[in-house]
Amino acid sequence: MKRQVKFGLLSAASLLPVIACATTLFAANSLGLSPMMDQQTPIPAKTEARIQLAQAGGDKPVSYADNQANRGSKLYKEVCTDCHGDHLQGGLIGGPPLRGSAFDKKFANGAPVSALFGFVSGMMPPDAPGQFSDAEYADVIAFLLRENGFQSGAPLPVNSDAQDKLIVEK
Ligand code: HEC
Repeated sequence: MKRQVKFGLLSAASLLPVIACATTLFAANSLGLSPMMDQQTPIPAKTEARIQLAQAGGDKPVSYADNQANRGSKLYKEVCTDCHGDHLQGGLIGGPPLRGSAFDKKFANGAPVSALFGFVSGMMPPDAPGQFSDAEYADVIAFLLRENGFQSGAPLPVNSDAQDKLIVEK
């Protein structure tokens, strides 16, 4: 009888790391942090609605100023590179690529730039979202646009109504 109790304790203890691991995975998934989940994440309904709204309203292709992208490049290197890679190829800590087909499908599919701006300013970096000013977030979005092959021109506005009218499409 004594032996059995001991065994019971031992196996409970040996299960602990497994339980801890499963809990972590679960937490990561519910935060949407799993890169595997990420690939299956559908385009949010809000983005879909905005695409329709934008397409109805005679809108312009997005642009940004070179100096915004230059400043954004610095901020990206300081804050985003570890998770998203030097060349936006995706990083080591689960940050997905910020260019290529999965990215295009979500953010460069005719969606207004407000969708990309809203996601980044509301969610990134994951440990302290919203920590930069709107102007700084606009800088980093300008950098992402440049790296994705978009042309510079008129500055990217910070105002979300203005951003709703600027279309990101390849
Ligand atoms: C600690 C790691 C980490 C840092 C730092 C970080 N990100 Fe992320 N980022 C992630 C993860 C993980 C996701 C996936 C989250 C999701 O899909 O909900 C993500 C998603 C994104 C996406 C959406 C990509 C897609 O295909 O859905 C963009 C855009 C983005 N990050 C930009 C940035 C920018 C810009 C910065 C710097 C200001 C930054 N991130 C900093 C981890 C990070």
